Amino acid sequence: MAHRENFSGRLSVIVTMAGSAIGLGNIWRFPYLAGEQGGATFVFAYILATVFVTLPIFLAEIIIGRRSRSNARDAMGVLSNGKRFWKNAGFLAVLIPIVINSYYSVIGGWSLDYMVKSMSPGFFRASPEEVGNVFSAFISSSWEPVAAHLVFLGISVMVVARGVKTGIEKFSKIILPVLFLLVIAIAVYSLSLPGAMAGVSYMFKPDFSKLSPETFAYALGQSFYSMSVGMGAIVTYGSYVRKDENIMASSALTGMSDLLFAMLAGLAIMPAVFAAGMEPGSGPGLIFKSVPYIFAQMGSGMPLLSAGVSTIFFLAVVVAAMTSCVSLVEVGVAWLMERFGMKRSSACKWIFAVCGTLGVLCSLSFGPLGGFRIAGRTLFDFLDWASSNILLLLMGFLVVVFVGHVMKKSDVRDEITNSGTLKVNSRLFPVFCFLLRWICPAAVLVIFLFNFLG
Ligand code: PHE
Repeated sequence: MAHRENFSGRLSVIVTMAGSAIGLGNIWRFPYLAGEQGGATFVFAYILATVFVTLPIFLAEIIIGRRSRSNARDAMGVLSNGKRFWKNAGFLAVLIPIVINSYYSVIGGWSLDYMVKSMSPGFFRASPEEVGNVFSAFISSSWEPVAAHLVFLGISVMVVARGVKTGIEKFSKIILPVLFLLVIAIAVYSLSLPGAMAGVSYMFKPDFSKLSPETFAYALGQSFYSMSVGMGAIVTYGSYVRKDENIMASSALTGMSDLLFAMLAGLAIMPAVFAAGMEPGSGPGLIFKSVPYIFAQMGSGMPLLSAGVSTIFFLAVVVAAMTSCVSLVEVGVAWLMERFGMKRSSACKWIFAVCGTLGVLCSLSFGPLGGFRIAGRTLFDFLDWASSNILLLLMGFLVVVFVGHVMKKSDVRDEITNSGTLKVNSRLFPVFCFLLRWICPAAVLVIFLFNFLG
């Protein structure tokens, strides 16, 4: 087998995993879904889902990766001594990231485009309508978003081509703290706008009478998406984690930063949306409509200030999206290299070709291809919905069943406790086992069926 790289230590593991987890899912998808799904009730369901369902599965994926030391496609096959079913199941783990990556990099492209546009002070409009119109005109045009998507994907693939240590790790370490600080700063500003408090109550004051199965369905899908669970990314990164690493602690820290980040992004966006009198449920365009408005307010009379801060903000979004995109690309690349003995660079070219093409179609589905519908949805909406509400859950279900019921319990314990050396983890092991064997599969199955049956 080819020599596998390893992460260089505890901090690298957390930063890289958090780099995969924190991305457009937190900044773009979480606020707009919360807006569509009723605010605080959704946020409540999302936190529950993350702590009790997604986090144990996240840990289960690291276990599969680290124990098999294999790419996501083959990992379960390796651990089950080549059982046909589990070998085949791994195929999903390669397919899903390719699908997600295709439309993910379209949004990455939008962010890139907004970063460049922010540099010109004329881009900022004080009226929410105008900001909305600029956005709609942009995404429905043919060339600009397509080109931005290809550039975004191209850069991400180039990072992956440089390898795990040199490319991915370095990249994540530098940019994550910058992003954190920026989102905090924007949240503080957004909270100071007149009328902002309505947005805070909308995000954090749940009305439990509105809690429906649908809320949970979207919340779990979002939580999987945001933690990069159910698509081979964490299995792949898990395979680079050293044997002496405390994977339970790393998972908990990653989960916490991901949740925290989503909440901060919500606090940055929602108060401003309410202050501007915008519609919180206006869909995937929410941050692209609200953020330029926030900056226009911030810099009224000082156009250079809005241009500067907005450029840095979208730069940070682009990079956060890239660290996630990179982990999606890495899944396919790791598989192509080990399965077909390809060089890293050729594997990268293949992934670029496939995701690039599919992404172009997704991008065009906001404009010229808008009439093409699958189950009533445009290609973009369909891929986003089908991947996070169907495919991720399916893969997540297979992962919990595998680690909870197929792998030997003693092997799982070995991984969690590093062969008995981690005392706290030994004590927590029964809790983990219970969640993983019973709670997670039941929750995922119920919600999967709910989504699948319509
Ligand atoms: N978790 C990432 C985000 O929140 C998206 C992602 C999914 C990244 C799957 C990698 C793998 O944006």
